[in-house]
Amino acid sequence: MKDIIIALDGHSACGKSTLAKAMAKELKYIYVDSGAMYRAVTYYAMKHGLVKSGEIIDPKLIIDQLSNINISFNYNSSTGKSETFLNGSNVEEIIRTIEVSQFVSEVSKIKEVREKLVEFQQQLGKNKGVVMDGRDIGTTVFPDAKLKLWITANNEIRVARRYKELLEKGYKVSLEDVQENVKQRDYEDSHRKESPLAKAEDAIVLDNSFLTKTETLKKAIKLAKEAQS
Ligand code: CDP
Repeated sequence: MKDIIIALDGHSACGKSTLAKAMAKELKYIYVDSGAMYRAVTYYAMKHGLVKSGEIIDPKLIIDQLSNINISFNYNSSTGKSETFLNGSNVEEIIRTIEVSQFVSEVSKIKEVREKLVEFQQQLGKNKGVVMDGRDIGTTVFPDAKLKLWITANNEIRVARRYKELLEKGYKVSLEDVQENVKQRDYEDSHRKESPLAKAEDAIVLDNSFLTKTETLKKAIKLAKEAQS
């Protein structure tokens, strides 16, 4: 069995990260959440007043700040989960809020932001044994990944899952806001110029609309074992 790179891509809230985490655990691989990196840069921009009232004031302001943005992942042994850190502060929870979700696709369009984060992602994958999820992992970050999965689920199911997830975390959001956010991000992510969200030609489609988490994992692990051999 050789260590490989497993790339998972797909639309917002399609279950990529749940599956990627479970696969990494099962295979004893490292899980890398590339979306958390874009979210952390967005949070930094919001905190520093670089985005306001639904708009990026000036992409150049964010580009100028890129060298001051340091993202890392640390394993929390009490929760058994990896957490996202921005310049030494734990931002794992705050980057998942709907406020950050409302800006993230705008920030993700910026070429220089993508270049910095893609380089970091490639570094994290250089020793293989990695499961990474995102929008452009199989197309841009690791075009040679041994296994590429395109994760999908129908729109209503995706929105309902994300809504439930946010409510469970204690956030007061409406179903309509979640619906609108998912729709808008999907559009922006698929239509941007720089490495848009797209299925790699050689990606295998995994539709989890009517599968349980365990069933989805079972299918994915079977594909991973085949790719490893
Ligand atoms: O969890 P969810 O699928 O809703 O989103 P995420 O994976 O946390 O990603 C948040 C946002 O980051 C996406 O909507 C994209 O705009 C951006 N992103 C990206 O551009 N490229 C990636 N490889 C990962 C995320």
